[in-house]
Amino acid sequence: MEKVLIVTGGSRGIGAATACLAAEQSYAVCINYLRNQEAANKIVDSIKHGGGRAIAIAADVASETDVIDLFNQVDQQLGKVTALVNNAGILEPQTRVENMDAARLQRILTTNIIGSFLCAREAVKRMSTKHGGRGGAIVNVSSAASRLGSPGEYVDYAASKGAIDTMTIGLAKEVADEGIRVNAVRPGFIYTDIHASGGEPNRVERVKEFVPMKRGGQAIEVAKAILWLLSDEASYTTASFIDISGGK
Ligand code: NAI
Repeated sequence: MEKVLIVTGGSRGIGAATACLAAEQSYAVCINYLRNQEAANKIVDSIKHGGGRAIAIAADVASETDVIDLFNQVDQQLGKVTALVNNAGILEPQTRVENMDAARLQRILTTNIIGSFLCAREAVKRMSTKHGGRGGAIVNVSSAASRLGSPGEYVDYAASKGAIDTMTIGLAKEVADEGIRVNAVRPGFIYTDIHASGGEPNRVERVKEFVPMKRGGQAIEVAKAILWLLSDEASYTTASFIDISGGK
């Protein structure tokens, strides 16, 4: 069976590292992106250059019609999805809860929670043996923030990742006897561009002293754990979490 993977928000950071590693492990990969087509195409080109199979599809995971269209396009271009990485996620400028308006909360919760639910829904419809599928695996990209709470920075973001943790457990149990495994990774401080959205591009450099290993992590270190969870090596692992946070 050909392995077909969708990585949401796959044009940079942890998503891009995951897409490239997956291609090396013989997955046909769909790199979903929000706006930056050029960046997504670059990842596709580098995968193709290495002999792999990849496509890039624009979709806002917060939009139900976009998500439905994304999965339909993958059906047509790569075949039925066998693996999903719910990676797309956002955070907003660091502030306290007392300064967060409803519009900000809507944006964070819609992309981070509803986006992951919608993608998981479409994946389950295609993977579940109950629906004639051949099974599959889902990895949700949560965050150490779900355990730590991110006080003074982004409690909204941390809470959205808490919801992802709960969704991981509930969905995993819901589809456990339908051939689908659902797990999550909880990265700590990883060197990516997401920190610029929080208003502090060099955040990892500031906070790394609070990490027991005294360093930030690299996207590839997260990607390796994601690929393990997707693989048959993790065949009895579901409803589980891997913390990739240097001990934090
Ligand atoms: P990033 O900002 O480079 O990647 C996020 C990607 O998601 C971007 O490509 C962005 O365009 C995409 N995206 C955002 N909204 C989207 C939408 N509505 N539809 C489709 N795509 C959308 O940052 P990074 O760090 O690679 O983040 C990946 C995941 O890892 C996120 O879920 C993030 O919350 C999580 N994470 C990151 C940590 C870090 O320290 N970098 C720590 C813990 C978790």
